[in-house]
Amino acid sequence: MTTEQEQDQIWTALCERQLERVERYACREYWEGAERLQLPRQRVPTLDELNAVITPATGWRTVRTSVRYSDAVPWYRAFARKLFMVTDYMRDWSELEFTPEPDMFHDIFGHLPFMTLKRYTDLQEMFAPAFQSASPLQREQIKRLAWFSTEFGMIRENGQVRVFGAGLISSIGEIENVMAGKVPLLPFTIDNVLGYEKAIYSYNEVLFVFDDLDSLKTELASYFERL
Ligand SMILES: [Fe+2]
Repeated sequence: MTTEQEQDQIWTALCERQLERVERYACREYWEGAERLQLPRQRVPTLDELNAVITPATGWRTVRTSVRYSDAVPWYRAFARKLFMVTDYMRDWSELEFTPEPDMFHDIFGHLPFMTLKRYTDLQEMFAPAFQSASPLQREQIKRLAWFSTEFGMIRENGQVRVFGAGLISSIGEIENVMAGKVPLLPFTIDNVLGYEKAIYSYNEVLFVFDDLDSLKTELASYFERL
């Protein structure tokens, strides 16, 4: 377990390593959110600081959880109340490049800039009602759709492919691997995505691209409406 001081040091090291890549590769939605959120570079921000920006903008609120990897059921139960859970857990020095577990750097640096944008929280708000009315099999499919969109999705921007997913934005190793062209990219369609497994303990072997936020929402809605 890392102390708060160590967490701040690891946060600083991660920001230093990742910001340059994120500047090069992240989509405009991330940057628009990051401008609003103004994350500190030298320490982990407090939830109060984060909520002071996020809640007035989108109605969402971050809450702390001591659970290291929240299961989808409590996760989407919180989502339904517009609560975004941030884990207390921070990776250690040996995992700067890649961690299979979402830690507070992933949750805050990867996700929260997006959560200041209404057009993005509208997307996140599609998942919880769908999950809650889904069968066990459909729940697995919804988790996969979330994985390959909000966690590891790619988006087209001015003819180029940019990084959209929070899991890529917070992963030094995987973002480089993807942007080096080492990962096949397929169009984000329901049929394509449901044909692949999530890769939790390694880099993803295939990723999916959508044209813009609206076309992602339309594609997801075509599946959610059938539930
Ligand atoms: Fe995540």
